[in-house]
Amino acid sequence: MDTIHKDKYLKSPPNLPDYSKAVEGFHYDKHISELVWFSPRHINAAYNAITKNALSDRKNKVALYYVDENESVNKYTFLDLELSSNKLGNFLKAIGCNRGDRVFIFLPRVPELYISFIGILKIGAIAGTMFSAFGPQAIFDRLSQSEAKFLITNSEMATRLKSIRNKLPNLKRILLIDKGLMTEIDKYSDVLNTTETDMTDDAFMLYTSGTTGKPKGIVHQHKAIIHEYLTAKWVLDIKDSDIYWCTADPGWVTGIAYEILGSWACGSSTVVFPGRFSADGWYRIIEKLKVTVWYTAPTAIRMLASQGLTKVKKYDLSSLRFLASVGEPLNPEPIRWGLKAFNLPFHDNYWQTETGGIVIANYAALPIKPGSMGKPFPGIKPHIIAESGDEVGVNKVGNLTLEPNWPSLMKKVWRRPKKYQSYFLYSKDLKKKLYITGDLAYKDRDGYYWFVGRADDVIKTAGERVGPFEVESALVAHEAVVEAGVIGKPDPMRGEIIKAFVVLKPTFKQSDKLKEELSMFVKKNLAGHAYPREIEFVDHLPKTRSGKIMRRILKAKELGLPIGDTSTLEEY
Ligand code: WTA
Repeated sequence: MDTIHKDKYLKSPPNLPDYSKAVEGFHYDKHISELVWFSPRHINAAYNAITKNALSDRKNKVALYYVDENESVNKYTFLDLELSSNKLGNFLKAIGCNRGDRVFIFLPRVPELYISFIGILKIGAIAGTMFSAFGPQAIFDRLSQSEAKFLITNSEMATRLKSIRNKLPNLKRILLIDKGLMTEIDKYSDVLNTTETDMTDDAFMLYTSGTTGKPKGIVHQHKAIIHEYLTAKWVLDIKDSDIYWCTADPGWVTGIAYEILGSWACGSSTVVFPGRFSADGWYRIIEKLKVTVWYTAPTAIRMLASQGLTKVKKYDLSSLRFLASVGEPLNPEPIRWGLKAFNLPFHDNYWQTETGGIVIANYAALPIKPGSMGKPFPGIKPHIIAESGDEVGVNKVGNLTLEPNWPSLMKKVWRRPKKYQSYFLYSKDLKKKLYITGDLAYKDRDGYYWFVGRADDVIKTAGERVGPFEVESALVAHEAVVEAGVIGKPDPMRGEIIKAFVVLKPTFKQSDKLKEELSMFVKKNLAGHAYPREIEFVDHLPKTRSGKIMRRILKAKELGLPIGDTSTLEEY
């Protein structure tokens, strides 16, 4: 597909009119005055997302259009969110929540989630989020490793804690939003002095998966808001006048950086819809609320595309002016469809839980090469590196690394310093320390970056990150399973689906019924989104001499590809 030159798609002057100029003179320091600082070292992210607006002309502006499951719209102004998060902060303090304590939120996308997140940050505690599809095992791993002190949830979701509650000695209280919590909070003052946190104080954390071991608690600091704000402004092109809809969930990083922090720091009105995906439902929201900027994911675009163009044309979606996508590769096909459906191109951008914000992107003012992630955000310096640590040339595939000097790069991995260190290498060639993304990519002659694949076994299903080890462990917990190897299998709709190769105990017979049972077992215990949609029974798994499952070989076999180097293989 040819490069898209975009003059005809631009409906208003972009926030970043000249990319090259921005790169040349860029320094974060030049932009720090766009945020509110208590002193040159002290900043609070929640203050910049909400309080700043509540104290300005925007105070009665709608901050949150909450579209509930029945598609009725509830409005919350910046002042509403300010006062309710103040009350929540005062309540938490009163029940013994101190600076640095971990408070986890386990909720679907309801207003209380956003109010809680802001309130927690305001008092200098650390907010942790968990995706609402998690089951007991995933919840336990997160609450226990973080030593969370409070959990904000609802009574339906709290039932998933029954089997683990007594194994969580640090969890002081479970607060149920539908069992009087909000009335209790109402008794507290709506005046709160936001904690003047140091810019490097921990602000929020969320667990993410790698290839091996349990999920890692990625911690971000208050100053992350600088990068999140600037990227919301320059990449997502968010303006004060926008009605902005991000379809992500704050259980994942996109919902935090671009549904709470960066986007509200730009002063925009944000749309939140917790309901199930339906093309008609989504189009109705855009039409009804006159959404202007829309940030979604490739799987969602493919799902909309599968419902056809006639459906889109039934609605007046002319309010849309800027479209963006994240989370998995955006192939040219959904971009082509987007042009036909909305007469606008989707702008792909790339980042990770660990990077805390967008690092490579397509911009309103730059041509799009469909299939490319775009160009580095000003201030981000990528290098494509060979295994040796040397930089490789143009058009050569290597490990995508970044110079670790932007404000939203993770501060640490919660209580796992070695894990944190393993994200960095020293390149003798460049004489620089580099952050390793774990992704393979190349750069073309024009400076555009192209995603090639993961360098490790991490799975991306419908844009959500899943660690194979967690799924394998969940399978092995079933009485019929001896061992399991899990891979991501390419899928035209979801990007990848989870496929498991399972070795059964001799006393169990292979059957379709057992496959179904194993899938459901993982769905219930681990997470509603992280279960194997495909299961294959095998007699044994390929392993290294030291006993590690070689998923690479399972994947090559599945795809009918050459198996490659098997010198460390024990049996095959
Ligand atoms: C993948 C999501 C291709 C990548 C914000 C990365 C992408 C992982 C893109 C991070 C993209 C994200 N093109 N791949 N535009 N964006 N990825 O932590 O493998 O859930 O490392 O953060 O998603 O996933 P995470």
